[in-house]
This record gives sequence, structure tokens and C-alpha cells, in this order.
Amino acid sequence: MKILLIGATGLLGKAVMKELEEKNEIIRAARHNADVEVDITKPDSIKRMFDQIGKVDAVISATGHAHFGPLEEITPELNETTIESKLKGQVNLVLLGMDYVNDGGSFTLTTGVIMDEPIYQGASSAMANGAVKAFAKSAAAEAPRGIRINTVSPTVFQESSEELRAFFPGFEPVPLNKVALTFRKSVEGVQTGQSYEIY
Ligand SMILES: NC(=O)c1ccc[n+]([C@@H]2O[C@H](COP(=O)([O-])OP(=O)(O)OC[C@H]3O[C@@H](n4cnc5c(N)ncnc54)[C@H](OP(=O)(O)O)[C@@H]3O)[C@@H](O)[C@H]2O)c1
Repeated sequence: MKILLIGATGLLGKAVMKELEEKNEIIRAARHNADVEVDITKPDSIKRMFDQIGKVDAVISATGHAHFGPLEEITPELNETTIESKLKGQVNLVLLGMDYVNDGGSFTLTTGVIMDEPIYQGASSAMANGAVKAFAKSAAAEAPRGIRINTVSPTVFQESSEELRAFFPGFEPVPLNKVALTFRKSVEGVQTGQSYEIY
């Protein structure tokens, strides 16, 4: 399969790459140091990326910035950074990428546990995760040509920094290889409209 992996240079992206690269051709995308440059906050940049690479069998988003901060300090402007990236960025990959996905292909987007299990300072991220999950479920129901759409909702990764893991007291971190396996299930399997919760 030919797979476009956005966020390929990050923690999650590298793990997904490792899981899928043996059997598939992977095109790595990110803002820097990748096969193709893209900024998902800019629709023109997404369009350019798809024009550049042409048709693929699967699009994976292992990216999406979200603002973390106490609720009373979240301004509309700070919240907008989450909306632009984790929410609209990922949704626009589907809206602008549909014509570039082969029949029977797939989109797999990334959400996160915070939408179901609140953590301190997580409201903005939870908003985007829930929206992406709901969008994907609904879009999967009417996607053309047998195209499938799923989301992966991991808890905090074992490999994340100590600083990040401290935001998740009492949560059991999950190893990235387990999260990456779920991306494989989404890409190489038959399911659609799923939100895979990885604890
Ligand atoms: N870390 C965790 O424990 C955890 C847990 C649950 C869910 N998640 C979710 O998993 C996803 C990936 O997290 P991560 O920890 O792997 O992040 P990361 O290590 O910071 O990697 C982010 C990746 O996305 C790319 N990127 C960032 N902004 C972009 C943009 N505007 N356009 C295109 N590419 C962009 C980065 O490369 P460039 O900077 O070069 O663009 C990089 O490849 C996020 O949605 C995160 O919320 C993470």
C-alpha cells in the first residue's frame, strides 16, 4: 500500500512508521525534515501536498497541536490554535484529501483519552478530540468508493516526557508499539467509523 503519514517525524509518527514500513510504501509528511512538507493549519499547504504526491491508499494523521492550560486562562485566541491544528487541520485532511484516496482506501486520525477522561488543563484538547471523533464517525457513514475513516484515541505514551506524563496522574501509560498496532488495524483492516481507545 502507498501510505501518506503526516506527523511522521514525531513520537507517534515514528512508531507508526516502524509498524508499517516493512510491508508498505510510506510518504513521510511534516512541516520540516520529511519527504513532503505540509502545514495542516493551512488548507493551501494541504492541497499542495496532495497535488505533489497524487493518489494514495491510506492517509494517516499522527499530528495535531493542542493548547494545554487552566480553563480560566484559555483565551479564544489560545483555543483557536487547537482548532486550527488538531481539529480543522485533521478534518481538512479528509475534506481536501478524499479525491486523492484510492477506492477502498482509508483515513486514520488521532484524538486522545482526554475527551473521555478529563485531566487538569485539558479542556481545549478535549474539545478538538471530541469534534474529530464525531466528524470521523459521521463522515465514515457517507464516505464514497468504500473509503474508510477511523480515529485512534490513545492515553499518554510510555515514551512521552516525564513532564507530559505528570499531567496524567493515575493513568497507566501505553507503549507506543501498542498504539502503532492499532493504526495498522485501521489501515490494513476492514473497519470504519471506529474510535479505537488505547489504554
Ligand atoms: N504524546 C502523548 O502521550 C499523546 C497521547 C495521546 C495522544 N497524543 C496525540 O498524538 C499526536 C502526536 O503526538 P506526538 O507526541 O507524537 O507529537 P510530536 O512528537 O510533537 O510530533 C508531532 C508531529 O507532527 C508534526 N507537526 C506538528 N505541527 C504540524 C503542522 N501544523 N502540520 C504538519 N505537521 C505538523 C511534527 O513535525 P514538524 O514540527 O516538523 O511539523 C511532528 O512530526 C497528537 O495529536 C497528540 O495530541 C499524544
